[in-house]
Amino acid sequence: MSGELSPIDTAKFVAAKRAVDYVEDGMRVGLGTGSTAAWMVRCLGERVREEGLTITGVPTSARTADLARQVGINVVSLNDAKWLDLTIDGTDEFDADLCLIKGGGGAHLLEKIVATASDRMIVIADPSKSVDQLGAFPLPLEVIPFGWQTSKALVEEMLTSMDVLGQTTTLRMNGDRPFTSDEGNLILDLHLKRIGDARKLSMVLNQIPGVVENGLFIDICDIVVVGHGDGRVEVTDINEGTHEEDRIEFVDTDNIFKDL
Ligand code: A5P
Repeated sequence: MSGELSPIDTAKFVAAKRAVDYVEDGMRVGLGTGSTAAWMVRCLGERVREEGLTITGVPTSARTADLARQVGINVVSLNDAKWLDLTIDGTDEFDADLCLIKGGGGAHLLEKIVATASDRMIVIADPSKSVDQLGAFPLPLEVIPFGWQTSKALVEEMLTSMDVLGQTTTLRMNGDRPFTSDEGNLILDLHLKRIGDARKLSMVLNQIPGVVENGLFIDICDIVVVGHGDGRVEVTDINEGTHEEDRIEFVDTDNIFKDL
């Protein structure tokens, strides 16, 4: 399979493959959104089909729900599942405390709700997502359409008193139209460059009228699995204080997703 995959896709695949080892029979699992999470959904589907693993999946977006059904995962809503054993998701950035910036795909609202409703959150990533300090990736902010320009102005005013390096905010576009989330909201991207106090910023942003949720995940992620293009994986568990290395073995002809 490595012959068919770029190094970056191999990194995402091996991280996903290692992370689904944490899923046990009968678990209720939150299914993240994005290209790395899509690998995880495929790997989980493989376990369902080949091992007869019985799980319930709660997707964090319509596109993840579609893929999960396609690979044979039983999909329910969070209201039906109520509480989850585990959520596995990608990220746009993570730091040494496993604080995250998420929402590059515009799904951070549902992702944060689902991850918060889980006993554990595992993040899967390639090495490019690791940062010393959060903020190079623009911070997504979901706002309701009503009065969004006023919300944007309030956000910009608030940023002048925050410990951030940049203060530009942009409305996310999809071609020549505003991007809309699965919930029908808009996304403002905050180009902060460096975030000094992510915890404070997260709390203050969510107090602005019209703001639904920001993409900072503080004290939510428990484990990060970083995959590499050569098949190595690094697993960091913030609660256990452990850092382990492993290797995922797979062969070039082993196309486990050929039926999709
Ligand atoms: C979706 O809104 C995001 O939070 C994604 O989880 C994040 O953008 C990571 O996506 P990739 O795995 O595609 O980089």
